[in-house]
Amino acid sequence: MSVKDIFESMDYGPSPEGAGDALAWLVDQGSRFGHFIDGGYTAPGAGFDSRNPATGEVLATLTQATQGDVDAAVAAARKAQPGWEKLGGKGRARYLYALARLLQKHSRLFAVLETLDNGKPIRESRDIDIPLAQRHFYYHAGMAQLMGSEMPDRAALGVCGQIIPWNFPLLMLAWKVAPALATGNTVVLKPAEWTSLTALLFADICRQAGLPKGVVNIVTGDGAVGEMIVAAQVDKIAFTGSTEVGRKIRAATAGSGKALTLELGGKSPYIVFEDADIDSTIEGLVDAIWFNQGQVCCAGSRLLVQEGIAERFHDRLRTRMDKLRIGDPLDKCIDVGAIVDPVQRDRIVELVAGSEGEIYQAQCALPNGCFYPPTLISGLSQASHLMQEEIFGPVLVSTTFRTPDEAVQLANNTRYGLAASVWSENINTALDVAPKLAAGVVWVNGTNMFDAAAGFGGVRESGFGREGGWEGLAAYTKDAGKGKPIKSVVPFAGDESEPQPVDRTAKLYIGGKQTRPDGGYARNVFDKRGKLIGQAPIGSRKDIRNAVEAARGASGWTNATAHLRAQVLYFIAENLAARGDEFAAQIDRMTGGKTGAKEVEASVDRLFTYAAWADKFDGDVRSVPMRGVALAMREACGVIGAFCADDLPLLGLVSVMAPAIAMGNRVVLVASEPFPLVATDFYQVLDTSDVPGGVVNIVTGSHAELAPTLAAHADVEAVWSFSSSDLSGVIEQGAAGNLKRTWVNHGMARDWMGPEGEGRAFLDAATEVKTVWVPYGA
Ligand code: NAI
Repeated sequence: MSVKDIFESMDYGPSPEGAGDALAWLVDQGSRFGHFIDGGYTAPGAGFDSRNPATGEVLATLTQATQGDVDAAVAAARKAQPGWEKLGGKGRARYLYALARLLQKHSRLFAVLETLDNGKPIRESRDIDIPLAQRHFYYHAGMAQLMGSEMPDRAALGVCGQIIPWNFPLLMLAWKVAPALATGNTVVLKPAEWTSLTALLFADICRQAGLPKGVVNIVTGDGAVGEMIVAAQVDKIAFTGSTEVGRKIRAATAGSGKALTLELGGKSPYIVFEDADIDSTIEGLVDAIWFNQGQVCCAGSRLLVQEGIAERFHDRLRTRMDKLRIGDPLDKCIDVGAIVDPVQRDRIVELVAGSEGEIYQAQCALPNGCFYPPTLISGLSQASHLMQEEIFGPVLVSTTFRTPDEAVQLANNTRYGLAASVWSENINTALDVAPKLAAGVVWVNGTNMFDAAAGFGGVRESGFGREGGWEGLAAYTKDAGKGKPIKSVVPFAGDESEPQPVDRTAKLYIGGKQTRPDGGYARNVFDKRGKLIGQAPIGSRKDIRNAVEAARGASGWTNATAHLRAQVLYFIAENLAARGDEFAAQIDRMTGGKTGAKEVEASVDRLFTYAAWADKFDGDVRSVPMRGVALAMREACGVIGAFCADDLPLLGLVSVMAPAIAMGNRVVLVASEPFPLVATDFYQVLDTSDVPGGVVNIVTGSHAELAPTLAAHADVEAVWSFSSSDLSGVIEQGAAGNLKRTWVNHGMARDWMGPEGEGRAFLDAATEVKTVWVPYGA
């Protein structure tokens, strides 16, 4: 080829990266691996081959962990944990720095090994995966350094079981291991069965860094090993992978007291307005859906283009697709590498074959090996399978919209909520649409940007919990205080047969109105001496459903200003204070105690506290190492259902209602079961305090009977329980359906009168962090 030819075609030849060092490292290890437990590799056992998907060649043989291996790993982690935590944040920071430095020192080895094992282009593993993994360790070394001063009341959870997927093997390891170690936890990590090699190389790095034995343990194997970790005596499970497996893990850990974060699938919209910069948008789209062959949980896999430019945009897109270079992942010049495994490629082939849309595939020669061409499918209906389901391959589905409102409606028409990209040269359009998208991450005029400082994670069935930033760190810690088991509180009994004058018949409070219970039943409520005080309605499943519907309808509250929400909370406080004596007397009468006045005072104070917080619990701005900033915006969860504390009927209710509504949520509260009549009196306070109908709904009745309905309700985003009945298991189990967030007491008491009864933990639980990446600076 002459220089003239080269200039005319602008083509370039192959530029392969050498695989020699990585292959030599595998040979040095005997090409057979055991697990990494208690600071050393175990002898290889029966297992399976790990192959290079681009060539089909066997790279190494891995060991399928047995129950004994998992037990040994958990035992090693358990033994190491107290010492690791006692080192203190500053002591741990040194190790994290050392790990970051070693990752940097061996970055080429890691990048080549990752590409050999996973099939991703070397350009990506070299420039994205490995640098981001290093950055994660550096960032969390800093977090460990600051933990003592910035999080003095937080402690490590203990031993964390971590299960990761095959799409970003080392990066997902870094996302899991760095925050866990920074906060004083020890880990048992299982890489995905197709891509375990960089995790095993990382184990070597841990040895080189002199990490104390047992702090990091790595066991290899398939989903069965994952299940063993989930069932083991660990304190937290952190999982990234499919929504299907995430749901199984939610159900399997229900009621166990194990903390859980799930980072699951997505079908993220890529929204192009007609005033977008088309060239940038097309290049962004290449990145959104063909980065890592589309095997990215937050891939921009659903293209939404404004109608006026749709035809031109699609023409340009097809032209660009034809220019993509598919080939040897080790070639520095290729854009699209191999699919991770023939099983995954077959899944993609099958999904695309079942499509009723118009299919366009890039006009490029496919090399031998496990490859799939960049594909565009248009003309699908909104409800079609491929419009809704995650394909996890280089396949883009496309549709059009007319107005910004329609774009938002289409974007949110999914069970997922991981990420979204918005493209427009008009700042008003982009920033108007961003907050309306149901997604944990939104990129404005960009896509697939990640950083350790910026929280990443989803809403809806994309899971819960964040990785990165302060919010990611918090998910590896708990309150440092020692909790006490909760005491069951039962209603006082009286003589049911003896007719006694009833001085009041309470109702439920739904949609701003006092309503009779659907079932038409009420129960007698007695005082300590067995004297009838009144009757409380027995709420049913239907009442819960009506309350949820009312809460759903009150969405205006979420969009109201924080100032207005604060005003309403102040008003509730004033009105409650005005009737303080009456409430105090009623509490004493119901509970048979003498602390009613104190409880009313604490409730008024709590309302003032959250009125104060309403416009102050803001998000923040994260410095990310690129031309932009990441805004960590605090958004309301939506509808929160809560089972209130039994022992303090007013304070328990106010303590969950106030933070939730201060942050813009609407609530369905199930009042204290033994002492419900204080809540029913509280309706009048709400009625006189300008609380819009549906923002606060209160149901009385049996916690145990109502919990399954509230927990499983598809229109509820979060469920909390501070009940003295044991509801944790049933709530976490029910929550598996739509993967709602849960905050349950696991049988532990809370001191509602003290500082434990209010503050940031409640505000954190009442909000989701949405990370919005916006261009900023030159
Ligand atoms: P997967 O969810 O089955 O695997 C992820 C990890 O979980 C692996 O380490 C696996 O061994 C482990 N695992 C599997 N079953 C388990 C169980 N019952 N308990 C505990 N751990 C278990 O994902 P898979 O089969 O590799 O891919 C299937 C589909 O999942 C993909 O086509 C894609 O749609 C989606 N996926 C999504 C990912 C994401 O990042 N959101 C990552 C990987 C897959």
